[in-house]
Amino acid sequence: MAKTIKFTLDGRVIEAREGETVLQAATRLGLLIPHYCWHPALGNPGNCRMCNVEVEGAPKALVSCRLYPKEGMVARSAAPAPRRWQSAALEFHLVDHPLDCPVCDQSGECGLQDYYMNSIGRYRSSMRDNKWHMGKRMVLGPHIMLDQERCIMCTRCTRFVDLISKSHELGIFGRGHSQVIDLVPGRVLDNPYSGCVADVCPVGALTDRDFRFQVRVWYLDWTDSICPGCSRGCNISAHTSTRRPWQNKGLRLARVKPRYKPEVNGHWICDEGRYGFLNYDSDRLGKVMRLKPSAEELSWEAAAAEVSSALRRKPAEGLAVMASGRLSNEDWQAFQKLFLEKLNVRRFLFAPEPDQVGAEDELLRRRDKAPNLEGGKAVGFGTRIASMSWDSLAADIEAGKVWGLYAVDRDPVKVWDQRGHELLERLDLLVYQGPRKGLTGELAHYRLPATDWLEEKGHFTNFQGLVQPYRQALKPLGAAKPDWAIFEGLAARL
Ligand code: SF4
Ligand code: SF4
Ligand code: FES
Repeated sequence: MAKTIKFTLDGRVIEAREGETVLQAATRLGLLIPHYCWHPALGNPGNCRMCNVEVEGAPKALVSCRLYPKEGMVARSAAPAPRRWQSAALEFHLVDHPLDCPVCDQSGECGLQDYYMNSIGRYRSSMRDNKWHMGKRMVLGPHIMLDQERCIMCTRCTRFVDLISKSHELGIFGRGHSQVIDLVPGRVLDNPYSGCVADVCPVGALTDRDFRFQVRVWYLDWTDSICPGCSRGCNISAHTSTRRPWQNKGLRLARVKPRYKPEVNGHWICDEGRYGFLNYDSDRLGKVMRLKPSAEELSWEAAAAEVSSALRRKPAEGLAVMASGRLSNEDWQAFQKLFLEKLNVRRFLFAPEPDQVGAEDELLRRRDKAPNLEGGKAVGFGTRIASMSWDSLAADIEAGKVWGLYAVDRDPVKVWDQRGHELLERLDLLVYQGPRKGLTGELAHYRLPATDWLEEKGHFTNFQGLVQPYRQALKPLGAAKPDWAIFEGLAARL
């Protein structure tokens, strides 16, 4: 059994695990000791002096992020003396701060506001001189903006680029009162994880350019979700804006933030996942449509009747089905029941599209940009059943071996380009199902609107075999339904 050390903090006996500091033990138990510079993944330089505590027998204040408890030790964080020290440290951080909370994007989730407004702050300021002015609105890279006046020099951002992204774009320049964070000369903050510096910055010094002035944080709703950007399956929080639809340019997804999951993504997410889905609402489908031979909006019942009879019109060996690695585990189950058990389809394509294979690295990013091909394997796709290649399916259509294609959230026109139009025009039946129209959605005989991942709940299985739930954050658009419900509606008629 791991060794523990019992000590008292603010009158409460707590047990620290071996190797834990006083601050770590208190934070793990949900007890507040104010802090800025310590971050569980970035170490404890001990420079912000916010975490000062009083220890019985010690002659002076001690920073709890560097204090290892001793058996029987008595420490106080909320007593008058440590509160005075913490308040003095906070006043020191705010000496040159511009106090521009009304126009600061961090407002509402800022460490300075939070500590000032609770029992640590609300001091009478002793600042009588003019404030020191530093750089404002400094563009550091494609995603991040720096306001040097708001910086409290906690060094979390420089530690992130040194220890985690190892890209070293940021440094500390100057001495004493004129010390600032800035770009290393000739560098741009443009690494695959650059957005994480805004997460670790405890104040409004580093902010997201995308999010700047779009919506106040207190109007956002937070929902636990999983990033669909690659097979890592990073745990995220989707921040959606629906209460004031005129904000955030009318888009419902306002930002994506990492959610701590030690065995998958720790504290981080990559920029592809963070910024790659902010166009969530573009090109969306909400109507159930027959487009050919005559265009008409259908009810789900009418569409299920027409599509299910069209799928049975000719032998199943001439029917091809494209599946998406973005299907949830629930979708994959219903998919295999419809196409394997009911229709006995033999031609499946679930190989990635060329742009679903990308960069990978040792930190998080995976080469495979589909979140849930593992979920397909669990029901046989990629184990018992092999995927056709894009070329072999094109050749089969060209040779007249395929009369019908059911494309689930795949865009063959994008992959096959001009040839795609010619190939798809040859088919007797093209059903397109997905959340976005894409290029293929224009050519389909039937177009069925599906929800995207934020509009449904489900599970993805990541590359480690971990089954992870995601929750519903938004209402479906129009008549859109989860893929599994569309598959079940068709299967019920076959
Ligand atoms: S910019 Fe933010 S994270 Fe970086 S040192 Fe300043 S306060 Fe800390
Ligand atoms: S590593 Fe993959 S799952 Fe994680 S945030 Fe990036 S794209 Fe999303
Ligand atoms: S958290 Fe301890 S000095 Fe900053």
